[in-house]
Amino acid sequence: MAILKIAKMGHPVLLKPAAPVADPRAPEIATLVRDMIETMEDAPGTGLAAPQVHVPLRLVIFKVGSARARQEDGAAETGEAAGGVPLTVLINPEIEPLSEETVLGWEACLSVPGLAGEVPRWRHIRYRGVGPDGGAIEREASGFHARVVQHECDHLDGRLYPSRMTDMSRLMFTSEIRHHTHASPED
Ligand code: NI
Repeated sequence: MAILKIAKMGHPVLLKPAAPVADPRAPEIATLVRDMIETMEDAPGTGLAAPQVHVPLRLVIFKVGSARARQEDGAAETGEAAGGVPLTVLINPEIEPLSEETVLGWEACLSVPGLAGEVPRWRHIRYRGVGPDGGAIEREASGFHARVVQHECDHLDGRLYPSRMTDMSRLMFTSEIRHHTHASPED
């Protein structure tokens, strides 16, 4: 197990599309997953994408606590969100929006330390991928759960959340965000 160095905004690995994982059950993928989990829990963060630890592969991990799952509008629509989302390892993910509706919410990112911004995301999505055991994962998500998945999967396409923002006056230091909202964004 190891805590990995997290790439910060400006590092090229965060700007290029990541490659598909050829064999989700390969030993080196299991090692990567273990180290990413330790790194995310140490940070601490809600999610982490492999490019953030300088590995340009399509693999993300995330975990949503029950309090955060209920926080954002729409979370109550899907039963699993109300109780939170257990630690999930999602390999080669795909996202499909289930409606045109978007919702604004606060996001932060371990690769953009100290800042948070208000970002529009699909409110209701379906996502698919493969787990570390090679088994298929398919879930519907809304609210904060859907937001986290969209944020993490953006990392696989070389996108950071500021590039999704529509009002840059809503990008701010987390130390100042209390002036604007009661939210406590985290990634
Ligand atoms: Ni991030």
